[in-house]
Amino acid sequence: MNTGADTEAIALCASAELQDGALAVPFDVVYDGQICRAFAIRFDAQVHAYLNRCTHIAMEMDYRANHFFDCTGRWLLCSTHGAMYAPDTGQGVGGPCRGPLQKIKVTELDGTVYWHPSPLCKPLPKTFSKPV
Ligand code: FES
Repeated sequence: MNTGADTEAIALCASAELQDGALAVPFDVVYDGQICRAFAIRFDAQVHAYLNRCTHIAMEMDYRANHFFDCTGRWLLCSTHGAMYAPDTGQGVGGPCRGPLQKIKVTELDGTVYWHPSPLCKPLPKTFSKPV
């Protein structure tokens, strides 16, 4: 798929599935050789994506599936100990975070959101089947 970007693009979801400050769309990646959850959100009309791994303790951040924004819709919140991250950069802004979230490149074209693999963050192997 050619989306005008410089790397392979993988369709993630329809643009309409991501509303500003609302629920995330999850997806799976192979990060540094491990299968990990990731998520995409929309903030200030722009789409962003991150590895779903808190920098305080390497665990997923959403206690309720796909809920990452705090009640104001302005910050991403880890449900375990309350680390706060900026939705547009992933930078830690409060709580016990230890650095920024791992950002994943996303683009949006013609009503579809795409994510872009990198040497560290790759798509699942085509033969992988998700456990039920
Ligand atoms: S694991 Fe996220 S704040 Fe502690």
